[in-house]
Amino acid sequence: GKDGYRHYMEKELHEHPLVIGQTLQRMVDPASRRVILPDLPFNLAEVPRAVITACGSAFFAGMIGRYWLEEIARLPVDIDVASEMRYRNPPLTEGSVGLLISQSGETADTLAALRSLRQKAIHIVSVLNVEHSTMARESDVVLGTVAGPEISVASTKAFTAQLTVLACFAIATARARGKLDVLAEEHLVSALLDLPSRAAEVFNQTDAIRAMAQVVVEARDVLYLGRGSMFPVAMEGALKLKEISYIHAEAYAAGEMKHGPISLIDRTVPIVATAPSNALFEKTLSNLQEAKARGGRLLVFTDTKGAERVSAIAEQMVVLPHVHDFVAPILQTIPVQMLAYEVAVMKGTDVDQPRNLAKSVTVE
Ligand code: M6R
Repeated sequence: GKDGYRHYMEKELHEHPLVIGQTLQRMVDPASRRVILPDLPFNLAEVPRAVITACGSAFFAGMIGRYWLEEIARLPVDIDVASEMRYRNPPLTEGSVGLLISQSGETADTLAALRSLRQKAIHIVSVLNVEHSTMARESDVVLGTVAGPEISVASTKAFTAQLTVLACFAIATARARGKLDVLAEEHLVSALLDLPSRAAEVFNQTDAIRAMAQVVVEARDVLYLGRGSMFPVAMEGALKLKEISYIHAEAYAAGEMKHGPISLIDRTVPIVATAPSNALFEKTLSNLQEAKARGGRLLVFTDTKGAERVSAIAEQMVVLPHVHDFVAPILQTIPVQMLAYEVAVMKGTDVDQPRNLAKSVTVE
């Protein structure tokens, strides 16, 4: 049941800390602070490229995975949504690793992409929540997300579990490729192990998130902004808002604003931004300044280190604990999903069963 929560989605949002912790238990050795992968039928050190594909939220998780693989493992990555990948016929390099990401393991497009990658001699590593699914049977390796059953059509905890697995996979790949020494690995794994406690603290911000929701619920259109690994977090926020509140939302890489979307900005189009104090913080802030100067109302997710700067420009903000840059997208996703939930509750939509949608999309 819902354990006293109003909806499955609310219950599943509150499971984020637990699910991140359970997934880490499977993927890291806390004593040595090293990532442990199951035995792979190929050598990670020799993989020339990665190709990532998925649909919906799982695709956004894949986008964040790409940042990690590029950044710490220096591995070239191709990525596309599965419905495009399966018909794109990209010139792939044999022996590359294919990362297929799916909560259900039954999504028709992702399964078809898996089969087409297999035909091109790509090693299939699937990141799956349902470990006895069709995709699981057709994969070389399954990396399980230990999220438990996800009932709500809008994915929440499965997404942070996917990110946790992808972060660990990136660390293992970086080590295999000689890009990460023991100390650096310990440092990243410590940041991951710290996450369940930090994630639990996000719920102290529920009132601030509800205050943001009061603004969003009045809007017809909402813009979500972020840069770097926060761009897919913005995409996840916009998808979740559309999916359950039926409010039109679009995510942009903040630096793209002045190439078009800035002309949309006025008081009626709130701007939701994700801006923790990372390497791109100043760049994001200056994009937000530009939006504010054109009448934009800024609703900003940041962290304790960024709060002072953000408070100078934001109409409302949500302040999260400061964590290592590497794991920040995992933490920042939680309040962005919570915002969509609170807006949907205020609108009175059918949160767990939004119109026109199914939990798993088993037809093309
Ligand atoms: O089961 P899958 O992870 O393969 O599903 C992929 C998408 O259909 C799914 O993430 C969808 O976008 C969610 N409803 C988003 O909340």
